[in-house]
Amino acid sequence: MPKLIAPSILSADFSRLGDEVRAVEAAGADIIHFDVMDGHFVPNITVGPLVLEAVRKITRLPIDAHLMIDHPDQYVAEFVKAGANYVSVHVEASRHLHRSIQLIRSLGAKAGIALNPHTPVAAMGYILDEVDFILVMTVNPGFGGQKFIPAAFKKVAELDQMRREHKLNFEIEIDGGVKVENIAEVSAAGVDIFVAGSAIFQSNNYADTIAQMRRALKG
Ligand code: DX5
Ligand code: ZN
Repeated sequence: MPKLIAPSILSADFSRLGDEVRAVEAAGADIIHFDVMDGHFVPNITVGPLVLEAVRKITRLPIDAHLMIDHPDQYVAEFVKAGANYVSVHVEASRHLHRSIQLIRSLGAKAGIALNPHTPVAAMGYILDEVDFILVMTVNPGFGGQKFIPAAFKKVAELDQMRREHKLNFEIEIDGGVKVENIAEVSAAGVDIFVAGSAIFQSNNYADTIAQMRRALKG
């Protein structure tokens, strides 16, 4: 599977969001990661479908809506309608995870499950064969610029192992604390999609930073 870089707009300058999205697209990003927070599931509030729709209009890249919200099923359709190509719901926020996944897929988007740092892979139970991707949180969700939690290495390796053992196709995405300095190491554990917010948007040259990440990924 190709290794994909997904800048998280959480660390972008929101007063110039359109320019920021265009800039990371021009800099070689593969996916736009879009963090949705409701002030309940996580202690922060960000953006909703209206902003996603605006971003959809100015980029050709796939948009990955990471729903850090309670009752995600109530909002999935709105995000897909607004233009999300990937949608993930948190296992900790979804009471009927199978239904959430089916719903996302029925609307034509890639369906993903996100796991908080403490949540074991076993929490996903028996639906691994029905998901398109699994988002492993490598920080506590809510804020950009936090430090990578190393226990995630084991979790990613476990998922990768299960994927091979059962011949499954889901992609593994990690989110939080990804930098040029650690991207090679996490990649080796089996990651396909790398979300990076502050590492890209707080760098002086987005294209340089993304190129450095790609070099590190090639080894
Ligand atoms: C955190 C968000 C992340 C965040 C990552 O809750 O889900 O997508 O933007 O930011 P960095 O890359 O700065 O850790
Ligand atoms: Zn995220």
